[in-house]
Amino acid sequence: MTSPVPLVIDTDPGIDDALAILLALASPEVDLRLVTTVHGNVELAQTTDNALRVLHLGGRSDVPVAPGAAESLIHPQPERAGHVHGTAGLGGVTLPPSPVAADPRPAVVALAELLSTSPVPVTVAAIGPLTNLALLLRTYPAAAARIGRLVVMGGSAARGGNVTAAAEFNVWADPEAAHAVLTSALPTVMVGLDVTLPTVLGEEDIARFAAAGPVGAQAAAILQQYLAHARTAYGTGGVVVHDALALTEAIVPGTLTTVRRNVVVDTTLGAGRGQTLVDRRTVSSAATAVEVAEGVHPDAAVEFLVSRLSGLDALVGRSS
Ligand code: BDR
Ligand code: CA
Repeated sequence: MTSPVPLVIDTDPGIDDALAILLALASPEVDLRLVTTVHGNVELAQTTDNALRVLHLGGRSDVPVAPGAAESLIHPQPERAGHVHGTAGLGGVTLPPSPVAADPRPAVVALAELLSTSPVPVTVAAIGPLTNLALLLRTYPAAAARIGRLVVMGGSAARGGNVTAAAEFNVWADPEAAHAVLTSALPTVMVGLDVTLPTVLGEEDIARFAAAGPVGAQAAAILQQYLAHARTAYGTGGVVVHDALALTEAIVPGTLTTVRRNVVVDTTLGAGRGQTLVDRRTVSSAATAVEVAEGVHPDAAVEFLVSRLSGLDALVGRSS
């Protein structure tokens, strides 16, 4: 087998973020080297603590967690998503605290150091608001240019929004940052609502990894509140784990069918704020174009997630 690809997850845990982190830990194709946290589903201090606890649950409290931006770049966006993820972000579940503290380095510094020193290209999975990535581009452009692949969970090409009629949550939470990243010429895959909404994790799928052991059972417990929200918000009989699908594409490139498109973000202060304007009229050859995920095999993606999460208990048992 080839060497695992170094991976960074930039995240705002968040229920589906927690699943995404656990999926990465369960996947031998990647080596999770760093987690950076950002404001988003809940406040930064909480997303940082949640990331530490999730890594501890997965038996990997050795992975550094560097806290990033506490707010959006330009226009304050104090609205969080506690009604979706629970006020503490993990669906009302209190995971045991991590024995380690957060990394003293700010997220952009930790990211820049890793990118600058890695002998091989690093994949970055950005599954929260894009504030940290925009700051990295601005403050450490040479390090940012070394990103091998950037997989962004955010936006929507043709499905409208989930937090407003126009906007998907991660882009809406910092549209200026999203615009900077999605027009930056980084090698980016945009995993938006077009492919995440059809990918539904059913109750029987959750039951499979819940039965695998204590780690699987905790992952399933975290999902219960999300399950209730998904039924109401999306009318689905299961959970839409947006961030876990983005991680699947980060772990197994090509899982999703992508088309190269020009993408800009509506940064006006009106009703369209945070909308990703994906130009689907043409396939773009522009350097700044983004690979937009437009096709998914939902059953295969769900099976991948469930089988990987079902194997996590055995992995954690072996390392402890
Ligand atoms: C995105 O918004 C957040 O609430 C989720 O964690 C995911 O990253 C989905 O729109
Ligand atoms: Ca997220």
